[in-house]
Amino acid sequence: MLLVLKPSPEEVGREAARMVASAVRRNPALRLGLATGSTTVGMYQELARLHREESLDFSRVPTFNLDEYLGLSADHPQSFAYFMRQNFFSRVNVALANIHIPDGSIKGDYRQYCAAYEQSIRDAGGIDLQILGIGRNGHVGFNEPTSSLGSRTRLKVLTKETIEDNRKFFASGEEIPQCAITMGIGTILQARRILLLASGSSKAAAIAKAIEGPVTASVTASALQLHADVTFLVDQEAGALLKQQEYYQRVLEMTAILTPERL
Ligand code: GLP
Repeated sequence: MLLVLKPSPEEVGREAARMVASAVRRNPALRLGLATGSTTVGMYQELARLHREESLDFSRVPTFNLDEYLGLSADHPQSFAYFMRQNFFSRVNVALANIHIPDGSIKGDYRQYCAAYEQSIRDAGGIDLQILGIGRNGHVGFNEPTSSLGSRTRLKVLTKETIEDNRKFFASGEEIPQCAITMGIGTILQARRILLLASGSSKAAAIAKAIEGPVTASVTASALQLHADVTFLVDQEAGALLKQQEYYQRVLEMTAILTPERL
C-alpha cells in the first residue's frame, strides 16, 4: 500500500491525473476503471488539459465505470453517464465504442445485465488501473457497509447516509434513486492496480478505517488491504486521522528511489 499525501484537493487531482497519464503513456491501450464524484473532477480536468496541450491519447483506452443510479437514463443530468460526458468524455478522445457504464435505465433481468457487465470487463482482459473515490461511510463504488467482500456487479440498495450525501446534486423535491448498479468488491479487487482519491475532513474517518482499521464489510474500502497494488492519494484533511503518517512518508521516499514506476 502506498499513501501519497498532498496539501490540497487541487494537488490530489493533478497528481491523480499525472499517475493516470503516465500509465496511459506506458500502455496506450490501458484498460481504465473510472469513478465519479466531486473528488474526481480535478483529475478529469487535468487529464483533459494533458490531452489538449500535451497530446495525451485515449483513442485505444477502454473505460469501465464503477456504478450508476438505477432508474436514471444516460441523459439524466444527475446520472453518472452524464457526469462522465460533461467532465471527461466530451473533452478527450476516448472512442465511443470503448466506453462502458452500467445502464441505469434497464428493467427486467438485472442479474443477467450485471453478469454481462462483468463479462465485458473479462472480455476486455480485465481492468489495469481502477480509480476510486470513497464515501463517508467507507464505501467504494456503491458498495455500502455490509456488502460482501466477494461481491460482483449487482444491484445495491443505498443507505440513507449516501442518499443524503448525494442530495446536493439533485434539485429540491426531485426524487433521489434508492438503488444503484455497482461493480462489487470482488470485481474491484481484480483490477491490477487501484488508485483511491479522497479530499476533505468529511473523509478522514473513512480513510483512517480503510487503511489502518480491520478488514471488514462494515467499511468496504478496508477490503483494499487485501490488494497487492493500491495507492491512496489524499489531501491533508482526509489524511488527518492516520496514525502512521511518518512511516508512509518514508515508504514513499524509498519507493521513489527503488521502484519509481509505482508512482
Ligand atoms: C458516490 C460514488 C462513489 C464516490 C462517492 C464520493 O457515492 N458512488 O464512487 O466515491 O460518491 O463522492 P464525492 O467525491 O462527491 O465525495
